[in-house]
Amino acid sequence: MARQYFTHKGVLFPCLDYSPEKLSYVENEFQVQDDDVFNITYPKSGTSWMLEILSLIRSDGDPGWVRSVLNRDRAPWVEHGPGLEAALKYPPPRLLCSHLPVQLFPKSLQRSKAKIIYTLRCPKDVLVSLYHFSKLLRFIRDPGSLESFLEDFLSGNVVYGSWFDHVTGWMGLKGNENFFSITYEDGCLPQDLQGSVRRICHFLGKELSEEQVAAVVENASFQSMKGNKMSNFSQMSDEYMDHQKGELLRKGICGDWRNHLSEAQSQRFDTVFRERMQGLGLTFPWD
Ligand code: A3P
Repeated sequence: MARQYFTHKGVLFPCLDYSPEKLSYVENEFQVQDDDVFNITYPKSGTSWMLEILSLIRSDGDPGWVRSVLNRDRAPWVEHGPGLEAALKYPPPRLLCSHLPVQLFPKSLQRSKAKIIYTLRCPKDVLVSLYHFSKLLRFIRDPGSLESFLEDFLSGNVVYGSWFDHVTGWMGLKGNENFFSITYEDGCLPQDLQGSVRRICHFLGKELSEEQVAAVVENASFQSMKGNKMSNFSQMSDEYMDHQKGELLRKGICGDWRNHLSEAQSQRFDTVFRERMQGLGLTFPWD
């Protein structure tokens, strides 16, 4: 399978299932509905995890839906060819996903009351997760050495562009009543995840009992998702993903970057992080 990319408005996309025409359609013509809920992330920041939580909240903690319907069908990707088709046919209220940076997101969001849940993750862990995952996907370029991939990541020379641009762009919506941000680190411990699920429910205007919240936490756990073929990408065609090389649910921990980055690489990352993020008034659990 070809691992070709194109650049759209300065952001890299894989050629497979993406095109400049579709991206323009999504940005300019796709109609966001007031009752849409969007799961938005930079890749490898906990997209599937949040998708599972939102699916389980929608089904009141009952795991029937997440165990019988593929995650990409429960919440299609708007910018992705087949995902866009599914999004256009999705009966309301829609649950949708996107990795788009804010400047490429549908403009109709501004006129809608749609709810956005934006999940962020420590970017060093995003880098490591993306490095491994890039080796599995047959439509993504081989990441090469970690040293060279670090530079690609820091300069935004990766699919979906710069982490820094993505985060600063979306976090510009902070304070908007229809925008909710959460970190992957907020859910790393089960007891934290309970509180996070309650906060998400509150944002969505959904009331769940203690038992239902506990069921969401249990069924969205790393182990539950790893064993659920509707959520673990094991059903993705071999043509797209080399299942021999690894899995989507790789480690699911906070701070794995410490096992991969050298002291010099970590310092190089910190320097760019400070340059790009200081003065924005954003604080993160990994700071
Ligand atoms: P690792 O590669 O560090 O293990 P995305 O869904 O955005 O592609 O992100 C994938 C990352 O989220 C992977 O990280 C994966 O293991 C982790 N992940 C997925 N589901 C999870 C869960 N229920 N709990 C913790 N981490 C999870």
